[in-house]
Amino acid sequence: LGHSTNIFWHDCAVGKVERQKLLNQQGCVVWITGLSGSGKSTLACSVGRELHSRGKLSYVLDGDNLRHGLNKNLGFKPEERTENIRRVGEVAKLFADAGLICIASLISPYRKDRDACRSMVPDASFIEVFMNMPLEVCELRDPKGLYKLARAGKIKGFTGIDDPYEPPLNCEIEIRQKDGICPAPCEMAGQVISYLDEKGYLH
Ligand code: PPS
Repeated sequence: LGHSTNIFWHDCAVGKVERQKLLNQQGCVVWITGLSGSGKSTLACSVGRELHSRGKLSYVLDGDNLRHGLNKNLGFKPEERTENIRRVGEVAKLFADAGLICIASLISPYRKDRDACRSMVPDASFIEVFMNMPLEVCELRDPKGLYKLARAGKIKGFTGIDDPYEPPLNCEIEIRQKDGICPAPCEMAGQVISYLDEKGYLH
């Protein structure tokens, strides 16, 4: 694929500040990263539901779902994951510019790809949430039976098995087990909502 040339940027009459005023919230990207089966999608949906009940407009971009459409031509090789994450980062940036609280939930295993998304989003409004669940827990859950297939060598390059996961070094929020027990979805969502509230994204 080539690159665009001779292209120009047009600003529109209505800007981000006006849209945010209309919605009474601040656009941002909540980026949930973690292993397959760590609970990313569950957290994303739970945060979306809670925001909705508070009258806040959000939208979930789920890695697995987007691979049915926008990213259906991408597999799981490192360069394909990088492109997958870049595209979702760009879409999330547009949603945030629209004034929405955009919740992206992707494994996004490579630090440099997540950092690239962070640097795309203006005003430090990129909130990285690390689902820090042990591999053993994710593997035991194995909701789609993929770990089993990966262990049997039937899926190659599966994150956490024979493909790396690089945990965040400076995430805004970390979700982890307490005394060996995973927090309930509403509890995890509460952690994210409190953060958004404290930082002024909800008004
Ligand atoms: S990535 O790494 O961010 O590009 O992945 P993502 O777009 O989030 O897609 C992850 C889902 O794809 C399924 N799947 C795999 N995951 C990891 N490695 C390999 N090789 C793989 N093959 C398929 C899996 O269902 C992931 O879903 P989640 O929701 O993370 O469990």
